[in-house]
Amino acid sequence: MRLPHLLLSCAAFMLAVTVFSAQPATEAEIEIAVGKLLSQMTLAEKLGQMSQQHYDTKSLTNPVSSANAVRNGQVGSFLNPDSAETVNKLQKVAVEESRLKIPLIFGIDVIHGYRTLFPIPLGQSCSWNPELIEAAGRVAAVESSSAGIRWTFAPMLDIARDARWGRIAETLGEDPYLTGQLGAAMVRGFQGKDLTAPDSIAACAKHYVGYGAAEGGRDYNTTLIPEAELRNIYLPSFRAAKEAGVQTFMSAFNDLNGVPTSGNVFTLRQVLQKEWGFDGFVVSDWESIKEMIAHGAAADLHGAARLGINAGVDMEMVSTSYRDHGAALLREGAISTAMLDDSVRRILRVKFRLGLFSNPYTDTTRPSPLLSEENLRVARALATESMVLLKNEKSLLPLSANTKTIAVIGPLADSAVDMRGCWSCRGEASECRTVYSVFKDYVGAKSKVLYAPGLEHASSTDTSEIAAAVKAARKADVVVLCIGEPHELSGEARCRAFIDLPGAQDQLISAVAATGKPIVLVVFGGRPLTFANAAAKAQSILYAWHPGTMAGPAICDLLFGRANPSGKLTTTFPRTVGQIPLYYNHKNTGRPVPLDPKAAQTPLGTAEDPKGYYSQYLDIPQAPAYPFGFGLSYTTFAYSDLKLEAPDANGAIIATVTIANTGTRDGVEVAQLYTRQLVGTLTRPVKELKSFQRVALKAGEQRSVRFELPKHSLGYYDNTGRFLLEPGKYHLWIAPNSAKGAPVEFVLPTQ
Ligand code: BGC
Repeated sequence: MRLPHLLLSCAAFMLAVTVFSAQPATEAEIEIAVGKLLSQMTLAEKLGQMSQQHYDTKSLTNPVSSANAVRNGQVGSFLNPDSAETVNKLQKVAVEESRLKIPLIFGIDVIHGYRTLFPIPLGQSCSWNPELIEAAGRVAAVESSSAGIRWTFAPMLDIARDARWGRIAETLGEDPYLTGQLGAAMVRGFQGKDLTAPDSIAACAKHYVGYGAAEGGRDYNTTLIPEAELRNIYLPSFRAAKEAGVQTFMSAFNDLNGVPTSGNVFTLRQVLQKEWGFDGFVVSDWESIKEMIAHGAAADLHGAARLGINAGVDMEMVSTSYRDHGAALLREGAISTAMLDDSVRRILRVKFRLGLFSNPYTDTTRPSPLLSEENLRVARALATESMVLLKNEKSLLPLSANTKTIAVIGPLADSAVDMRGCWSCRGEASECRTVYSVFKDYVGAKSKVLYAPGLEHASSTDTSEIAAAVKAARKADVVVLCIGEPHELSGEARCRAFIDLPGAQDQLISAVAATGKPIVLVVFGGRPLTFANAAAKAQSILYAWHPGTMAGPAICDLLFGRANPSGKLTTTFPRTVGQIPLYYNHKNTGRPVPLDPKAAQTPLGTAEDPKGYYSQYLDIPQAPAYPFGFGLSYTTFAYSDLKLEAPDANGAIIATVTIANTGTRDGVEVAQLYTRQLVGTLTRPVKELKSFQRVALKAGEQRSVRFELPKHSLGYYDNTGRFLLEPGKYHLWIAPNSAKGAPVEFVLPTQ
């Protein structure tokens, strides 16, 4: 009995070596290869594949994360390796010295670029340009794969309606549809056309799901989201990534309706696996399996592993509960072999799809793609398109290159480190170009540029340098004032109870404004900030986010009119933190503030006489500082003639509008299509973005722009998960932003 068995497994092993050396050509062949490999794996090897370790040079003496662990099949993946050499070294142990020669997969957070940094994702989303975002994803993939990285923990697809949350910087805004469109573009960019290509990297849709709804905008906090809201607002962007072929998902940190998302059978097994048919794998967030103990969902690591494995979190990041407790759980019958096999199958499937079995090593001889001229060109284009012109009184912008004296002032005018933003991966501050560092290249030979930071750091409260800034402003014809939030105030765990300008910036602005010189504000930030005092004192405002490596050139291209702003906001900017949560696609309430735009801007009563008993605050105007979709250009656009055509054979809704460039410069307008269902089984949002187009128009040109909306895009989910597409009256707008335009009405007939 024993000998034939031994011979058989030797034969299988030999076969394994020959079969696995060539890349399976089809999905069916991958499934066969996965099955064969799985049948040879021990329980420990399976749990090893389900374990991801943090790579850091110090922990290499730790037997678990060392080469020994790889050799023994105790680890399937590392995150954060430091170089292609490290990757190759560990990979060699995996594919040449471990029993089954299963390659490792190496991941890192390539969030908005690897070495060439693009704007933070929230900034990128303001471009409303999926093609350019895809191109940036491609650059990031080419750069990071040259360092052995074949997996990024991006795109982040969380919906955030609370600017206090530091991770709003990583989102693609507040809208489910736009986030889905742009997130899918990132997936395409990272994964490329051929996943097996050495410069393709697997994407990861994170953080699944609802993480952005953290109560109070405090990171990692509890979320309570009714099923309808989950399906209509928080899930669609993840669905779009799945449809775009994303290979992995990351379960989140948050407790969702009482069940942590890293142990959530409903969202992971029911929605992701059953309803959507996702066949890649799910990785936990950093120790989010272990954190289920702190949540109070598990008593210990044993219980946490049970929850994670049962829910279908296939790979555990950093904590080791699977590896340490998997065998005992199996013995007890708390998990099943079928479950483990399913998880391992998913992980191996993705490794095969990436071609890691046939091509496990990183070619360190290929010329370095880092910071190439083309990469910097894409970074500059995306930075330019991400910036939003919020104000431009008397057309102060663009500046003339012949302006005699320009004062460049502010703590962020020459702060390279702050151009990077959060999650700057391998991007170096020294490679980021600031406004001041390139400013001289833009002004004429006879122009003078004066520079004064005013504050040593954006958060500084020491006002001793303000006097020098005022002096510079006095000598200037115009002031370019670079203010905002430094990079360390946004990103993970960087939540703020107040989202105004930090440090003594308001004092700096007031002092400079007192000179009476015209001010162009360039505002940097990882979130919508409240900066009403500064805004009131400036003639022009360019919201620049954290723009990345090419910050300075992109900003100066816009300031001097080499480029025309086309960015539009993808989050609602509140006037004050007290308005939060504030988002455009809200419900109407039974007592909405009157539609009269003037009334909506003004508090309607007093505490003694709260006229109207509307859903309002007594102490501030109700409208946001800047609405979703808002952004100006150096030219102007006029919309007219909004019409609906008779539906086509499939019942698609076809709408046309004429857009005219009524100014004197060529420009790009982001036209936005919104709908509203007037009466529904569930109450419906006052507006929902359903489509958008970037329309390039020469000065004086006009064009009829056509939108086609599939009928099902009018549907929504109820609280039992049922999809409803309801007959009745709808409104449709095509407008420059969510607060503008007059709708046309149509009726969706009974199906
Ligand atoms: C973050 C994830 C990230 C992971 C790995 C976690 O703290 O929440 O977004 O991918 O760390 O770095």
